[in-house]
Amino acid sequence: MKKHDFLFSVSTNAFQIEGARSLHGRTDSLWDWYTKTYYKVPPVGSTEREINSIEVSSDFYHKYKSDIKIMKDLGLNAFVYNMDWTRIFPTNENYINPMGIQFYVNLFEELRNNNIKPIPILFHWDTPMWLEIKGGWESKEILKAFRNYCATVFKYLGKYTDIWFVNDENKSFTLDGYLGDTFPPCKNSPTSFVKAIHNLNMSGAIAKEEFLKAKELGYITESSILGIDDDWSPPVIWGDEKNDTLNNELLENYNSWMRDFWIDPNILGKYPSVFWDYIKEKNLDPNILEGELEYLSKYKLDFIGWNFYRPYFITNKNMIIDKTLLHKEPVNFDFGNFSVVLPKEHKNYTKWLWPIFPEYLEVGLKAYKDKYNLPIMIIENGFGDFDDKSKKLILDYDRINYLKPIIDIITKCREKELNLFGYSLWTYCDIFSPSAGYRKDYGLVSVDFNSPILERKPKLSYCWYKNVIKSNGKVTDFNKKELENELNELLDNWNIGWK
Ligand code: BG6
Repeated sequence: MKKHDFLFSVSTNAFQIEGARSLHGRTDSLWDWYTKTYYKVPPVGSTEREINSIEVSSDFYHKYKSDIKIMKDLGLNAFVYNMDWTRIFPTNENYINPMGIQFYVNLFEELRNNNIKPIPILFHWDTPMWLEIKGGWESKEILKAFRNYCATVFKYLGKYTDIWFVNDENKSFTLDGYLGDTFPPCKNSPTSFVKAIHNLNMSGAIAKEEFLKAKELGYITESSILGIDDDWSPPVIWGDEKNDTLNNELLENYNSWMRDFWIDPNILGKYPSVFWDYIKEKNLDPNILEGELEYLSKYKLDFIGWNFYRPYFITNKNMIIDKTLLHKEPVNFDFGNFSVVLPKEHKNYTKWLWPIFPEYLEVGLKAYKDKYNLPIMIIENGFGDFDDKSKKLILDYDRINYLKPIIDIITKCREKELNLFGYSLWTYCDIFSPSAGYRKDYGLVSVDFNSPILERKPKLSYCWYKNVIKSNGKVTDFNKKELENELNELLDNWNIGWK
């Protein structure tokens, strides 16, 4: 990666924003199948999970040009986006859908023309259905198809950027999809889980091999880098335990399971001991073929992307917990010595009970630096809320209040030797949320899902982030009246074509 200015970006993801799911030769993927099968709309205002159609979503497929104009107005210099594998390969591993790849060429071209660097992610949980029915990530077949997919996108899109990611959050995808039964493919099987995680790790190494080939072929510049995206939630010990040794053991145990387990194979080229302990203890066969471990150690990834939303409060699994002190039942996993808890004593949560604790951003960055010492970029960070969209001004002060200390910490950390080169906010506009459908708003730009044109409208946080970017992260304080005036003015001049 060439030296460049600090990246101020937004992130989003194809199946959550794109829509056009049945257009131009596209077929169904895992999330199409899932949202059609488990459709569920709870009462208005409930934080229960909504699972809704992603057929149209925010219609980025048709609105990307006006969306990029809005992004330019915001002042972004980067945009994290995952391509939709199924759009490019809708039926089998050999047929490249010309309209599929063309969409991404057009999108990347438009971004480049507006001086916004695309930062593509190759896989964000959305396996093509034609591969899923052959076993998906549990089967070795997917790896051959993934190799072709990588080679294709590097060939056609390689010239537009020098920063790439293989995946988004292997942890959420496999814990929730193969062990926890809450995300597709809705499995609850430790064997499926370890097979999927090993093949995902293999996909990281395969992507790297193809990346190097694409460099030799001149599709990708020599200085380009390929990273892994991680969603580790830094631990905060909760409870009365004052014993430092026990606490350190707990932290170490948590970090080995919730961070190292997911990124060591692609970053250090080897599985941590907890992986081997787990398969031995449960007598599981992850189907590691001869030569695959050597392959992992040969093709390591170059840097880390971190999705930081919240830390996890943890306590010892064997401790007797007074549950009246918690908002919900503790969460235990199939492994590890820890339980994840939501203590009432901590006062700051989102409506979906995600702890707000910005200080752990710095703690986490230091921990990554200490263990891996690689370049790092924040790839997702944002605030999910019910925004009141009924008035002219959408005054999302809670979002700004969540983001302000985060940006202050980012600015502070940029001055330290933590290898931090960018921050990407989740997300550009309101989109489908995997845990809450269309009822959990994350956008700086509102989308009116009841309007036939899915009308875009900036929120107050849009003006705030714009000022942050303009000041290179230095100005995060704001005067309410002035900021509201800015939004008013922006809306008065809001280009009709941007709606
Ligand atoms: C990340 C995912 O885990 O969190 C995104 O990469 C997701 O896909 C984001 O949207 C926020 O989660 P949620 O469920 O609140 O939308």
